[in-house]
Amino acid sequence: MSDYVSSEIKTSSVTQPPSTWLGQLYFSTMSHHLYDLGLYRLVSPFIWRCPTQQLMDNYVENISPNHLEIGVGSGYFLTQTLCEDFLRRLVLLDLNSRCLEKSVKRLREFAPCKLQQNILMPFDQAQVKHSSVGMNYVLHCIPGSFRTNQRIFAHVHSVLEDGGVFFGATLLPHPVRDNFVSWLFMKLLNAVGIFRNAEHCLADLQHTLESTFRDVELSVVGSAAIFRAVK
Ligand SMILES: C[S@@+](CC[C@H](N)C(=O)[O-])C[C@H]1O[C@@H](n2cnc3c(N)ncnc32)[C@H](O)[C@@H]1O
Repeated sequence: MSDYVSSEIKTSSVTQPPSTWLGQLYFSTMSHHLYDLGLYRLVSPFIWRCPTQQLMDNYVENISPNHLEIGVGSGYFLTQTLCEDFLRRLVLLDLNSRCLEKSVKRLREFAPCKLQQNILMPFDQAQVKHSSVGMNYVLHCIPGSFRTNQRIFAHVHSVLEDGGVFFGATLLPHPVRDNFVSWLFMKLLNAVGIFRNAEHCLADLQHTLESTFRDVELSVVGSAAIFRAVK
């Protein structure tokens, strides 16, 4: 714990891609409870056709006592999967300071450390290693393809212990089991700048994960690609 100051926000790597400002506005202003209700009770199961339980299972199976959560948002899965006795260190990372403030408050029983950081930039705290890194529903918000954003995966790799697990999920614009409603929703979210995944595809995600990690597992559930990779 001593490498982080729990009440401090580190802000040196927050240069924000201009195209993400609308997405950031949306994540800052929405109540976390409303966000959870809308995304995990309605949008994920019915529009993206990915049951929330499958995303939850990925957390239950892979989260470790020394965990870094990237793009924490509302912290929903952490509130559902963590317990105080299990946890040794919890670090919450997000580009958005308001998201961080709200999720730190929501998860205060776990005394989380917070880090304001753009994952496109090298991590300020790369000397601190984690045994698990979670990144759920974040990659589809980042402009660029998986190949051009290979550095995100390298940054995650740099903060994992050997044998540590990187896990999460992202939404793809051309899912194997596509349908009109999800296609339309995805188009609209890209048009307003909340999603930036127009160039994303499953083959690139697989390639990028496999070229950075070993033991990559990837499955498609509706429009979501759920992944797990070991350093
Ligand atoms: C769609 S929310 C997902 C939140 C949460 N992980 C979940 O599963 O509900 C995306 C989160 O990633 C953060 N984010 C977006 N771009 C980022 C970046 N370049 N660096 C770090 N965090 C970013 C947003 O601020 C937001 O909190």
